Parts: sequence; C-alpha cells; structure tokens
Amino acid sequence: MGKYYCGVDFGTSNSSVALSDGSQVKVLSLDEANVSPTSLPSLLYITNDGDPIIGREAANAFIERNVDREVLLKKIDLGISIEAYVASEPDKGEGYRPHTTDGTAREAVRASAIVEVNSPGRLFQSLKTLLRHSGFHGTDVFDRHYQIEELVAMILQPMKEAADRAAGEPIERAVFGRPVRFSKRDLENDVAEKRLRTAAELAGFKDVTFFYEPVGACVEYAMAAERTQRLMVVDIGGGTCDVCIMEFGGAHGFHDRLAESKILSVAGVAVAGDAIDREITRSKLFPVFGSNCRYGPNNLPMPQNIYNQILDWQNIYKLNNEETIHWLIAAESTATQPEALRSLRCLIQRNLGYPVAREVEAAKRRLSVDMETIIRIDNEALQVQEPLERKEFAHIIEENLELMLESIKEAENLAGIRPQDLDLVLTTGGTSLIPAIRSMLEDRFGAEKLKKRDTFTSVATGLAIVAQYT
Ligand SMILES: Nc1ncnc2c1ncn2[C@@H]1O[C@H](COP(=O)(O)OP(=O)(O)OP(=O)(O)O)[C@@H](O)[C@H]1O
Ligand SMILES: [Mg+2]
Repeated sequence: MGKYYCGVDFGTSNSSVALSDGSQVKVLSLDEANVSPTSLPSLLYITNDGDPIIGREAANAFIERNVDREVLLKKIDLGISIEAYVASEPDKGEGYRPHTTDGTAREAVRASAIVEVNSPGRLFQSLKTLLRHSGFHGTDVFDRHYQIEELVAMILQPMKEAADRAAGEPIERAVFGRPVRFSKRDLENDVAEKRLRTAAELAGFKDVTFFYEPVGACVEYAMAAERTQRLMVVDIGGGTCDVCIMEFGGAHGFHDRLAESKILSVAGVAVAGDAIDREITRSKLFPVFGSNCRYGPNNLPMPQNIYNQILDWQNIYKLNNEETIHWLIAAESTATQPEALRSLRCLIQRNLGYPVAREVEAAKRRLSVDMETIIRIDNEALQVQEPLERKEFAHIIEENLELMLESIKEAENLAGIRPQDLDLVLTTGGTSLIPAIRSMLEDRFGAEKLKKRDTFTSVATGLAIVAQYT
C-alpha cells in the first residue's frame, strides 16, 4: 500500500479531493478557474468533437458557445407508429396537445425525435442526482452514447489525476463519500452507489470504500478536538441534506479516537440547494413567463406541463420544437399577458435557460448576505427584474425546510438523543448558509451549539482521515 490516503467528495454541485501523507491532510487544488480552486464545480461540457471540459470552464464554454445562439432543430422520423395520449388537461406527457378538448382520445402517431443540428456542445449539471434514476442509463451526445457512469467518470478523472500528481504515484485506493440517502427508495439507493463505484473504477480508482458524507465532516472536526463529545453534523449541499450523530471518546491520537468513536445514527433526504432553486423559479419566475396567463376564446389557463419543463433548465431545449413554438405564437396573440408569453418564447428559443438558472442560484446566495435582492436578467431579448426579500424567500422554501427538519428529528430518534444531549451541531454544505436554515437550527439547538465547518472541503478532509485509519 502506498503512503498516501485519499478522500473523495463527489458532490452534486462541487467536488473535492483530500490527500493525507500520514501526518497532514491537504485539500487539493482542482480548478484554477474557480473562485475557490479546491472545489471543482461538478459540471461537464462535451463538445461536438467529443472533448470533455470540466468545472468552471465547462460553464464558461457553454455560455460562450450556446447562449443566444439560434437553435436549429430537426424532427427525425423514427420509422414506427405509437399510440399517443391526446388530452385537454395539462401534464399528459409527450402526446399532449393544448388545443384538443377530448380528454380521453388516443391516436396512432409516427414516433419522432427532435434533434438539434447545430449544437456546439452539451452541458451536464447535477449528474449525481441522475445516478439514482434506475430508468436513466445514459444519453446520446451527438453521435456517441454515454452511460451515466462514463459521464460521472469524466468529472472524477481530473480529480484522480490531481491526486496522482500530488502523491507522485498512482492513487488506487480511496474513500468516497456518499449521501445517507441518494433517494428514499432502497433500490435507487443501491443503484446509485453501484454506479458511483463503477464511475470511480472507470476513473482509475481500483479500491473504493464508501463512507457517509456527514460522517466525513464529523471526523474532520472531532479528530482535532480531544474531548468526549456527542456531535451532530448537518450537511446540506446541492442535492441532499445529510445528518449524522456521532460519539467520540476522550482518547488522544487519531487512531484511538477514531477506533473508539461510534456512529449513533444517520438520516437524510434528497432535498437541498437544487430543490430550493426550483422553488424560487416556480414562485418568482413562472409568473414572469406567463404561468398565470389565460389564452384563447375560452380563456384557458396555460398548460402546466410547459412550466414543469422549464423548472430544470436542462429540459428546456425539448420545448424548442416547431409545434410548441407555433402554439406559443398563436397563444400570444390572444393571451391576457402577451409580453409574458413572448418572454417564455425567448427563454426557449434563445437558449437562455442556463443563465436564468444561474441568476436564480446567485440571487439565492446573495440573500444569505443581503436582506433583499433582485433577480435580474438583462439580455437584449429577455429582461427580468424580480425583487425578492429574505422574508419572502424563507416563506417560499418552508416545505423544503420542513423535510430537512424531519431528517434531523429522525436522526435524533434513531439515536435516542434529545437536542439538549448534543455538545455541538456542526454545519457544512453551501445550503447550510441560508439564514432561514440557520434560524431553524438555532431554534432547535441554540445558537451557541452551532459551529460552521468549511463549507466545501470538510467532507473530503474527513474522508482522507478515515482512509488513513480504517
Ligand atoms: N452562500 C450561499 N447561500 C445559500 N446557498 C448557497 C451558498 N453557497 C452555495 N450555496 C448552495 O449550496 C449548494 C452547493 O453546496 P455544496 O457544494 O456543499 O453541495 P454538494 O456537496 O455539491 O452537494 P451534495 O453534497 O448534496 O451532493 C448549491 O445549491 C449552492 O447554490
Ligand atoms: Mg456535499
């Protein structure tokens, strides 16, 4: 075995690697283009030549090459007939046609696919979330099919190379973090872990062990302390909220301290920063894009399936087909808010989904510092100025916070521990910086018990320590 120990935190939004040489743990620099080079944005851009670009550069490449570009789509006939559902209500899937009034009709249609003919590349975000979807195996990018494991491995590869470089030898063994629950379904949990293992192997790690991410963060803190402590970690990132309760004895020295530690409970839920971004989009931007608008002689409400589609920017391109665009133009002429429908059409046709999503995320981050902000899109074709106050934001995300609190209570119940029995509650993960979440934690545990750990690297650091002593 080599003399280096490696911890890998593959995050929904940001990833990091830490390496221990036996006496010191170092978080490696992964992305010089990022504000904080030790965290690599988990973004992958594949050019139409098949070249991968990872991290901050991936986002830059996508914006430079794709946004505001005229999108040319081609409908290709797949050569088979399928039965399509045709209905007047929204949310009826692919076959839905807004102008049809018969809610039960079925008809045979030629199966077709919409392909973009002039795309310079494709951007992937939050790939970790896709790991749990057992029905999603992969996707075609131009003329090549990529398994989900391959896509994830493309992000892990430069992380492995950075570890090899720092160690001066190939790092084959690593402790990887995993969320407590990739999904609430056991089967999906297992599928996700198995896929992450395959991805790690594809990237060159031969011996992979998994540890829960919040356990990593807990170890990172507790090893530096030398007291008997009962600790809770609340790690809220981009995809999941993870909680653990651990007990550390008073032993000195890393090895004995870790050997005498006990995990009393873990709990988690797949609700975090991405879900919060979707709530902001739903309540602040849907109306800007006409969700409350009515159209046509019968004053019909807008079909909600369109809005469900724009909730995740990665799906917006699917609306950029002739049928939907013609329908939107027609609806615009009779709509109660024609300007809003025009904005929706710009969002779709000008490929503005990603910059809009980025601005929603940035506005959310600003609200961790400021009491109010403006969600501002200043594009020649699309202008948005939506004020958002911290108080309204807290209200918008109440249900998400409720789910996070349930996980915290679950961890307490499983461990048989009351809030007052805890010595400290360590918080980590970007979403734990949201003031409404901090207030929720203060109300439950008292402000004096909360302790912030490094938001983006505490998990990887703890995992490298675990790698050394297990
Ligand atoms: N200052 C901030 N205020 C609010 N949210 C923030 C802030 N900074 C980052 N975030 C959010 O935190 C999330 C990213 O956090 P982090 O890097 O800890 O997640 P991750 O480890 O990649 O995800 P996960 O652990 O769920 O797989 C994003 O949703 C981001 O928008
Ligand atoms: Mg994380």
